[in-house]
Amino acid sequence: MKPASHMKRRQFVQLATLTAAGAAMQPGRAAAETTAAHSLPALPYAFGALEPHIDARTMEIHHGKHHAAYVAGLNAALANAPDLTKQPLAVLLADLPAVSGESLRTPLRNHGGGHWNHTFFWETLAPAADSGKPSEKLAAAISAEFSSLDAFKKAFGEAAAKRFGSGWAWLVLAGGKLKITSTPNQDNPLMKGLVPDADLGTPLLGLDVWEHAYYLHYQNRRPDYVTAWWNVVNWAAVSKRFAENGE
Ligand SMILES: [Fe+2]
Repeated sequence: MKPASHMKRRQFVQLATLTAAGAAMQPGRAAAETTAAHSLPALPYAFGALEPHIDARTMEIHHGKHHAAYVAGLNAALANAPDLTKQPLAVLLADLPAVSGESLRTPLRNHGGGHWNHTFFWETLAPAADSGKPSEKLAAAISAEFSSLDAFKKAFGEAAAKRFGSGWAWLVLAGGKLKITSTPNQDNPLMKGLVPDADLGTPLLGLDVWEHAYYLHYQNRRPDYVTAWWNVVNWAAVSKRFAENGE
């Protein structure tokens, strides 16, 4: 596995780390990365483990139907491009403009983005009792950038609420600084050349605001879902990403 031509080594290492984090959920995933198909990672907790904040039925459908569909769509897109299966997904997404052919690039963007985003999302969650809090270093960085954890949550929630239609809100590291951003559809901050430069960065935290993530329980009340979601954020995972990717 070699860095893409225009990719700096540091960025490549960071992307490989993100991919390794995704692979950690699923024994055997690393082998799958180098042979053929991607597969649906098992959830690291039971469907009902995030209740009452995210209900079991939503988790079951979100993981077993929606995420599974992204995996299937990604594999279908890669069926005629076997060389691309050798790249870790994060690296592929960061270099999509290098993929020739809109008919291949678009499903890789939508389904590959969907697979990466959801794998990242499951790892970002934990039962409320295990949610914890940001590490000292992450808490200090959040306070330095946003003035307080509460102010950060407010600004992040506003980004999630303002995302029109389907998409994601993100906390990213960009140029050594924390930044809140959001992307439409299944785009993410790794997608250089497709997502505006202002939205790029290394994802630390991501919130799915597609209706499929909350509609069964919260209906149109996206802000209520966002408020409840903070109770099941896996701060240990977010802090670990910060430590691994921070300056
Ligand atoms: Fe989703």
